[in-house]
Amino acid sequence: MPLYPEYLIREVADKNDIRDVISQYVTLKKAGSSYVGLCPFHNEKTPSFSVSPQKGIFHCFGCGEGGNVIHFLMKIENMPFIEAVEKLAERAGITLPKPDEKDSARHAQMAQERDTIYEMNMAAAEFFYENLKHGKQAVEYLKKRSLSGADAKRFFLGYSKDSWDALFNHLKQKGYAESDILKAGLIKSSENGKYYDAFRNRVMFPIFDTRNRVIGFGGRVLDDSKPKYLNSPDSPVFSKSRNLYFLNAARRSGKEFVILVEGYMDVIALAKNGYINTVATLGTALTTSQAKILASEFKEVVICYDSDGAGRNATTRAIGILREHDVKISVLNLKDKKDPDEYINAFGITRFSNCISKRKTDMMYLIDTLEQDYDVTDNSQKVSFIGEILNYMKLILNPVELDVYVEEVSSRTKVSSNAIYSQLGIVKAVNTTPSSSTETPDITMIAQRKTVMSSDAALERTRELMLALLLANKSVYKRKKQSITPSLFESEVHRKLLSYILAFYEIDKAIDPTQVIDFFTEESEIREVSRILSLDNKTDDADKAFDDYLKVINERMNRKNILSQLNGDNPDKIEKLNKFIKNQ
Ligand code: UTP
Ligand code: MN
Repeated sequence: MPLYPEYLIREVADKNDIRDVISQYVTLKKAGSSYVGLCPFHNEKTPSFSVSPQKGIFHCFGCGEGGNVIHFLMKIENMPFIEAVEKLAERAGITLPKPDEKDSARHAQMAQERDTIYEMNMAAAEFFYENLKHGKQAVEYLKKRSLSGADAKRFFLGYSKDSWDALFNHLKQKGYAESDILKAGLIKSSENGKYYDAFRNRVMFPIFDTRNRVIGFGGRVLDDSKPKYLNSPDSPVFSKSRNLYFLNAARRSGKEFVILVEGYMDVIALAKNGYINTVATLGTALTTSQAKILASEFKEVVICYDSDGAGRNATTRAIGILREHDVKISVLNLKDKKDPDEYINAFGITRFSNCISKRKTDMMYLIDTLEQDYDVTDNSQKVSFIGEILNYMKLILNPVELDVYVEEVSSRTKVSSNAIYSQLGIVKAVNTTPSSSTETPDITMIAQRKTVMSSDAALERTRELMLALLLANKSVYKRKKQSITPSLFESEVHRKLLSYILAFYEIDKAIDPTQVIDFFTEESEIREVSRILSLDNKTDDADKAFDDYLKVINERMNRKNILSQLNGDNPDKIEKLNKFIKNQ
């Protein structure tokens, strides 16, 4: 795949000081051995963007962007790899050989294809919007949902005609190739190889990325037929798991919190009434990537899902996923109506705003809802209630926060907070701390719980710290290699990094931090590796640090296995697992 030989690309990266290059775009301040500044890739007020000239990398701890000097230029200038290499070569006075024509043609073709799809999606959105002018039924439908012409314009809503080929013909006429229209998911092919429009007789919702490009569509039927909504399939420009409806507008709202709803219509109802800080997932449950994006753009996520059983389950699930990221979580439970859209249309925005100001934290919401499922005056049910709520409280990493909710559960059930702590799995800490006889466990003791706490994020973080330590420290590797196995790691990137470390150290070569990243080509991998390389791995006693990491990884992996089995809804199993956790 590389167009120029690897050694030349390395030379280009080496001869361009990453600090000099980035300084042309970002004001950097020295902080230890690296430099920090405001990230150019997302909105932030306090700097989380770090540049290490020594390691030749940058990484933003806020949004996760990262890489070497070439990756930086690609992102900031929206340039393909080859162009960035060429620009930097020129900057450093390096002459590059004439590129291999086949490769450069392929790269250019892929970039071209994506550009074509963006452009074509925009043409389709415009076509759908124009269709509203003659789509009486669709306009009637929108009116029924309290949406005016101005609303349609503002949210760029449209209508796909009740025809098999209206859009197909329109796009062909504009000169687009069948293969591109198919790749964008705007047409489908029938068994006999004929193409037909993917969206027919539906109200259309264009989906934008954060650069305001149309990447896909959602389409709703005008009546009660099924399926109610169709969404574009994933394409070279569209990934349902990594984008959110209305994020392009929401992130510019300047608000600290974002409202997460289930449907397109909910977003529109809220945005229309001033809550521009609203997003929805794209017909799927919330994913880790989406949670990560929300956590990097906002301080708080307010989950406002449908009030039915499915909505409640989705809320619990979303809390679990968001808890793995550094973001406040709260829940809005709109009783009396099915979803935010219906709520606002029935009761008005003032009543909704009241709910917003009275929103509950995620834990308070869980305690309140679970408490309703049990009769806590009955002892056996009280025990079950505590067992169930503790499964969620295990996700709390902040000791002060944990204490607040332990007290809450304690006061509701009249069970001592010590007993609740011990069921949470910190019985050892309670017993070995001098203050264990007092009613309230002290903060240092609770802080110890951090190391036994199960959380995917914390586990991944410890793995990263271990890799960072090994990358910087050949001697630790030599002394500890017996206990280093790939099974300590789960992600492909971590395992690849480990094999890289092994490959170098086994032949007694030191690792050059500026070269590690060259080993990776996928964007997601590069982001992760830049993050690991940016971790501060200064330590007085590297061997002890290693032992600590190893212990934490092993403990957390055990606990995670238990928790993953809890994901099923089988109450018997939950009961058994509770016992198991308690007896550990
Ligand atoms: P809902 O069924 O809650 O619909 O689906 P809604 O948003 O309230 O729709 P209205 O008010 O009846 O128009 C929530 C979201 O789930 C996805 C869509 O993204 C929708 O916005 N969905 C729903 C689908 O992808 N397909 C479906 O068939 C239904
Ligand atoms: Mn609805």
